[in-house]
Amino acid sequence: MTASSNPHASRIALVTGGSRGLGRSAALALAADGVDVILTYVSDEASAQAVVSDIEVKGRRAIALRLDVGDSKTFAAFADSVKTVLAATWQRDRFDFLVNNAGVGLHANFEDTTEAQLDMLYNVHFKGTYFLTQKLLPLIADGGRIVNVSSGLTRFSIAGASAYAAMKGGVEVLTRYLAKELGARGIAVNTIAPGAIETDFSGGMVRDNPQVNAMIAGFTALGRAGKPDDIGGAIAGLLGEGNRWVNAQRIEVSGGMMV
Ligand SMILES: NC(=O)c1ccc[n+]([C@@H]2O[C@H](COP(=O)([O-])OP(=O)(O)OC[C@H]3O[C@@H](n4cnc5c(N)ncnc54)[C@H](OP(=O)(O)O)[C@@H]3O)[C@@H](O)[C@H]2O)c1
Repeated sequence: MTASSNPHASRIALVTGGSRGLGRSAALALAADGVDVILTYVSDEASAQAVVSDIEVKGRRAIALRLDVGDSKTFAAFADSVKTVLAATWQRDRFDFLVNNAGVGLHANFEDTTEAQLDMLYNVHFKGTYFLTQKLLPLIADGGRIVNVSSGLTRFSIAGASAYAAMKGGVEVLTRYLAKELGARGIAVNTIAPGAIETDFSGGMVRDNPQVNAMIAGFTALGRAGKPDDIGGAIAGLLGEGNRWVNAQRIEVSGGMMV
């Protein structure tokens, strides 16, 4: 049974990279809105289990599964695990919201970026989003929704982000094509493009380097770097009932960086 066929069933979100940072914040914000969560981690199982506990404290159900979004060979087995978990925990065969969030950064000037670095970013950000969504599609309920996490760096350019930002640009184009093709199933697909946020991302540079933090605050209209909950709340809000008609959009959540 799907949530759409049973109006009393809770909605279920699958958030990749839900163990830390923006994915963790999105998972907790969704749970606060009454959504159950399947979250993934790649290395930090303890943090993932801590998020599961925090969600359970809110009275929602949550499960953590391991997933490497950079390894597409594992996606079929991951989809099988999701299927098993849906049946065992929710007595369901579909979930409602997919948040493609997991990812890593890379700071390297164009001239210094290696083929191996580009391949890694391609695998994690673009190929991962593409084929994970494809493999999970049969498990997403008609009328469900997908959010792909991109970056403000696709609109403005900061030296050292060419490879990373180009992959996120691909994710944004993919978002529009998914919206076009999945509309027939009532699935809306949007991009959230965060500005610079204080997480572990890129070695915690935005959070831990005072010069970088001050520089970002200086070119942000709202006058500070972003916090994880600035993004988690936006993702949960976008997946709220009131935003059901938002589709094929890139929504930048940056406090007004470089406007
Ligand atoms: N922070 C920013 O300034 C910023 C700005 C714009 C966009 N973004 C984007 O936002 C997303 C989340 O970033 P964040 O700031 O939350 O980063 P983060 O704090 O470093 O957290 C990264 C998350 O992704 C998971 N992850 C990393 N590599 C993975 C892989 N190969 N397979 C599966 N999961 C993986 C991590 O799992 P483990 O805990 O198990 O390691 C963790 O849950 C990324 O797509 C990033 O590009 C971030």
